[in-house]
Amino acid sequence: MDWKKIYEDRTMSADEAVKLIQSGDTVVLAHCVAEPVAVVDAMVANKNLYKDITVSHMVTLGKGEYSKPEHSDVFRYEGWFTSPSTRNSIAQGHGDFIPVFFHEIPSLIRKDILHVDVMMVTVTPPDEHGYCNIGVSSDYTVQGIKSARTVIAEVNDQVPTVFGETFVHVSEIDAFVENSHPLFESAPAKITEVEEAIGKNCASLIDDGATLQLGIGAIPDAVLAQLGEKKHLGIHSEMIADGVVDLYEKGAIDCSQKGIDEGKMVVTFLMGTKKLYDFCDKNPAVELRPVDYVNHPEVVSQLKNLVCINSCVQVDFMGQIVSDSIGTKQISGVGGQVDFVRGAAMSHDGKGISIMAMPSVTVKKDGTKISKVVPYIDHGAAVTTSRNDADYVVTEYGIARLKGANLKERARQLINIAHPDFRDELKEQFKERFNAEF
Ligand code: COA
Repeated sequence: MDWKKIYEDRTMSADEAVKLIQSGDTVVLAHCVAEPVAVVDAMVANKNLYKDITVSHMVTLGKGEYSKPEHSDVFRYEGWFTSPSTRNSIAQGHGDFIPVFFHEIPSLIRKDILHVDVMMVTVTPPDEHGYCNIGVSSDYTVQGIKSARTVIAEVNDQVPTVFGETFVHVSEIDAFVENSHPLFESAPAKITEVEEAIGKNCASLIDDGATLQLGIGAIPDAVLAQLGEKKHLGIHSEMIADGVVDLYEKGAIDCSQKGIDEGKMVVTFLMGTKKLYDFCDKNPAVELRPVDYVNHPEVVSQLKNLVCINSCVQVDFMGQIVSDSIGTKQISGVGGQVDFVRGAAMSHDGKGISIMAMPSVTVKKDGTKISKVVPYIDHGAAVTTSRNDADYVVTEYGIARLKGANLKERARQLINIAHPDFRDELKEQFKERFNAEF
């Protein structure tokens, strides 16, 4: 059948599209900036049409209405990563969380261990061949579209066309809902003196020709801001944000020495502002690939001179790294942190390193400082990166190398890069913990 006829026949209002959801379904939303807006709103507004709906996804920048207690009569949120708008539902008990490595999600969907009945995505309008582009997010979206019984796509002409594994034919989509709106934006975090110092410390571990993976949070842009003088950097990263555009425009990134996918920045999703989305639009230098390629430790291990930079909440004296919970409260997820930490450790050229970069303290709204270097992780916190995997830890006060170091050496190095206000107390705790002098 002519693709134009398919598109015309399947184009409908958001209220019509959500009638394709059936009671008992698991609805999976595309990740992060790719989350549709009108169809998610319509699903919540029409909740009287169904019973017992599970909603799952990774990051959301949306309202997360389906996770609110007033909708828990119909919806159960079961996140694979949590975000500010959804995390309270887990703490309140009606929502829940599935711990999962990002790179495994497509294969868990294929095996039906993570079940998908309805996949909700955002796409460009179809091109002259009848293909829409999923634009900002390849990750698990590609597999979700293949495995779902029903695919509902919000068609947004403001979505960039990004090359890679991102094209989907109109025949693979069951319902199109046209809705032109600006994409979600995540503005670059403010870089203070602390982030600048962390950026400089990380930059001292990055040579010309390095391939970079950058995690989520305020630190990655601070590191990139320090790399303007570098040459032949490469990007192979779960996500990129606006900082990569600035560095590319300075000529520091050419991806010429990555070992694989040379000449291309390979990523699995975009999370920045319009500046990033415009930069990636029809840009042959950027490819979006599914997360079971980009984040797979076997793929990551083939990259040359790999430096992975991620962030964390807390590090204990043994080097156990907590990144996705504060005590019992789930605040995010492992995402790709361990995928890249393990890939770097397995690197074929033996040069891969991973850095956990964090401010030495977190400052609460009332001005209270909490040390992120601690003798013991908080009660109920989950270890994200184990002490066996931990490599470098960087704060504004310096660099600790944990790999190969014994427990006491680890603790000494970590205390030396902790905030000065806490060092004396931490030294006392060291004596108690290890029954030894600092
Ligand atoms: N004790 C108590 N609270 C803490 C804390 C600690 N040790 N460390 C951080 N927090 C609080 C902060 O105060 C902040 O609270 P607020 O939201 O009320 O302001 C919140 O936790 C987030 O901390 P912040 O430092 O602002 O986070 P960030 O945006 O820089 O992100 C991580 C840091 C660790 C949360 C984030 O990198 C993450 O989720 N990592 C795991 C996933 C990952 O690494 N993926 C990699 C590829 S995407």
